[in-house]
Amino acid sequence: MAKVIMIGNQKGGVGKTMVSHELSALFVRRGNKVLGIDTDGQRDFSRYSDISFAKRIPTIRDILLEIKDIKTQSAFGNEHTSESDYDDFEDETDEDIIDKAIQNTKEGYDIIIASKKLANASADFGEPNDIYLLQDLIMSLSDDYDYIIIDCAPARSPLLYMSYVASDYCICIAESDEGSREGVRQTYTDIALLKEKNTAKVVMLGTLLNKYKDANVQVEQYQALCDLGVTTNAMPFDTAIPLGVAAIEANNKHMCVYEYMKSGNREAKKKSKSLIDQFEKLADEIETRIAGFEKSNADDANLQN
Ligand SMILES: Nc1ncnc2c1ncn2[C@@H]1O[C@H](COP(=O)(O)OP(=O)(O)OP(=O)(O)O)[C@@H](O)[C@H]1O
Ligand SMILES: [Mg+2]
Repeated sequence: MAKVIMIGNQKGGVGKTMVSHELSALFVRRGNKVLGIDTDGQRDFSRYSDISFAKRIPTIRDILLEIKDIKTQSAFGNEHTSESDYDDFEDETDEDIIDKAIQNTKEGYDIIIASKKLANASADFGEPNDIYLLQDLIMSLSDDYDYIIIDCAPARSPLLYMSYVASDYCICIAESDEGSREGVRQTYTDIALLKEKNTAKVVMLGTLLNKYKDANVQVEQYQALCDLGVTTNAMPFDTAIPLGVAAIEANNKHMCVYEYMKSGNREAKKKSKSLIDQFEKLADEIETRIAGFEKSNADDANLQN
């Protein structure tokens, strides 16, 4: 069963996509099978991974519309009603569309790309039961992967709520500003409301301080996230990711920082090293925290038996 991790924060530009891409690539280097899902109409995760946007390749929107269509048909015996772009090309079954959507990146992880039309997701996925569509998809793929990483948009869209329902863990990315912290608070509130209704089981795995510039200032920023963690159940990871030119240069070249380091000259190697080291430490922390949650869940289950 895959561990499903959503990378969130409604605050824009904090590094959600960079972290989704780097973690996906890193988990692959550690021997895992990883699927990335881009749920943002900006399609940055898809772009970072440098894969095809060919019209014949179904997007996450196409798949979710297809699943919705199939569920509606089986519930009401209705005719095919989906308005997926992919319908223009093929008359495929659910499984075919998923197989055709999954592309392999040069970093070795699989990805399902986003559609620009997700900007209009409220119109496509505005019905109460639509909140389960991404979970349906992920359940059908869960045995094929060790990790599924969902890159979220900087918006409280239907896809964000679907991600809460479909995920086991949420990592919030934060910069040092109050806007980032407000985004963490909002994420916590959203999750708490869904849990109250038993709609989601996702747990806050932690916040990640990204793009810190100065080691002294980092101490204060880290403390602010610790204070926030008390009320949001999301303690910051000990590891923080510095602002690094290598992250920008790797992004411009559609590479992960590790590939950028390998492909570059001595200067590129020097610039990449601290980012790569920090991501290794972050992945260790993520694995440890997940193992802790899994153990306490197993203990709870044993107690009940
Ligand atoms: N640690 C870092 N050092 C330097 N640049 C970074 C770092 N993290 C992210 N960036 C850069 O910041 C910009 C925004 O990052 P990214 O796209 O990952 O943010 P985001 O949270 O996904 O944005 P959005 O909310 O729009 O989806 C990108 O140009 C990225 O290369
Ligand atoms: Mg993004």
